Amino acid sequence: MKVVFVASEMYPFAKTGGLADIAGALPVKLSKFGIRTFAFMPLYKTVDTEKFDIKPININVDIYLNGKNYTFEVYKKIDGATFFFLKNDELFGRDYLYGPPEGDYPDNDIRFGAFSYAVMEFVKKENLNPDIIHVNDWQASLIPVLTYYKYGWHDVKTVLTIHNLAYQGIFDKFAIERLNLGWDIFHMEAIEYYDKVNFLKGGIVFSTAVTTVSPTYAKEILTPEYGYGLDGILMKYEDKLYGIINGIDYDVWNPETDKNIYKNYCSYTIENKVINKELFLKEIGLENPEKPLFIFIGRLAYQKGIDLIKDSIEEISKLPVNFALLGSGDKHYNDFFESIKDRYENIFIKVGYDEPLSRKMYAASDFLLMPSLFEPCGLNQMIAMRYGSLVVARKTGGLNDTVKDISESDGYGVLFEKAEKYEFLNAINRAINLYNNKTKFLELQKKVMNIDFSIENTTAKYIKLYENIKYSREVKL
Ligand code: ADP
Ligand code: GLC
Repeated sequence: MKVVFVASEMYPFAKTGGLADIAGALPVKLSKFGIRTFAFMPLYKTVDTEKFDIKPININVDIYLNGKNYTFEVYKKIDGATFFFLKNDELFGRDYLYGPPEGDYPDNDIRFGAFSYAVMEFVKKENLNPDIIHVNDWQASLIPVLTYYKYGWHDVKTVLTIHNLAYQGIFDKFAIERLNLGWDIFHMEAIEYYDKVNFLKGGIVFSTAVTTVSPTYAKEILTPEYGYGLDGILMKYEDKLYGIINGIDYDVWNPETDKNIYKNYCSYTIENKVINKELFLKEIGLENPEKPLFIFIGRLAYQKGIDLIKDSIEEISKLPVNFALLGSGDKHYNDFFESIKDRYENIFIKVGYDEPLSRKMYAASDFLLMPSLFEPCGLNQMIAMRYGSLVVARKTGGLNDTVKDISESDGYGVLFEKAEKYEFLNAINRAINLYNNKTKFLELQKKVMNIDFSIENTTAKYIKLYENIKYSREVKL
């Protein structure tokens, strides 16, 4: 079987969030399972071609869009799978992947539209003849539309994975013309959305199968509360919608080999974990390592329940805990956390993106906070558990599928239901009580370190899907 795999970010080349972790690892794991996989992403200015040994292969693809020619130079790297990087500096030689903290680049329709056409043209030119084209999120969602509607490759199955329904790629209606699409698909049952063009909706309608990254989220998005306006179209295509839980790459996330942490450990040597806490607290200038250390790592975005943290920060500062927060995202959150960063003795704040620091934090922490308002899957909680930290999370999406509350006989985390300050603080207090029961806490730490959240499990599920997709080419327009 041959798979073309497309995403707008892939770890370690470019990353803004969990999409990159998955999209970087999956092609490699698919290849290990014997699937020939060709992965595609844009070559951003921020990709370090020298460090990763990414080389041009002297093939160009030319496309004509919006009255202009765009040439993409193709770069390549073979590392487990074949990764292709498409280079056009006018579109991707910029400081950010999607736009600065103030907002998205206004020409993202052209950027990712052109990239999508370039992938199609390269696949055609090089006769890759894939059985499956697997695309991720709105940035690549035009590809199933092009495959079916523009290129007429009706025997190629397309899989769209939705990592986050909150981002849909919505543009004014004349994107139809800018992207060489036809007005015949500009209607409610196709790519039109409130008189605009919606990339993700197009992907949902035209792909052979739609997946999202956890079984709970797959159900949630069929409701108005979580559907972000697409619950109706998702209901219509419910028979091709699947929830496949993400996993993490245990070669990348392993406290036994992680070079960034102070002292390596595994579940048999978990007593060494506390050394990480002591040295980390010293480094960041916090005291009392005997207190539980709570951490938050993630994008500072509404989705992540940042307002709950903001509103509870005074109370947290008065609890017998230490708290370290690492994140960057929306400007108003960045500004808020910058402004209070030196205010509390037991709270450390770093606004920014810092992978080595994040690893030290996972290793040092006792609890990870994830009060997300919605969470398609979430990788942070799996990484934290792999590093022996317990998770305090809101019961939603992938958090509901990966964390079990300690009130259940085999529970190993703390879940709360309502996104309200009182419930959030109550959950933190339950965690403190758990921490004070040393025997139980240690038992659970060992337990979570050994739960299998590996991306191999995820990969096997995708392969099963590839093999079993109900092959109906019918687009219900
Ligand atoms: P999302 O994709 O919604 O941002 P996930 O939990 O799926 O959330 O994935 C987040 C990934 O990004 C994890 O690998 C996490 O460690 C990493 N991450 C997020 N913010 C930061 C940051 N400020 N510094 C370092 N790593 C971060
Ligand atoms: C998205 C989601 C996150 C998920 C990640 C990878 O960014 O917000 O929940 O884990 O994609 O699928």
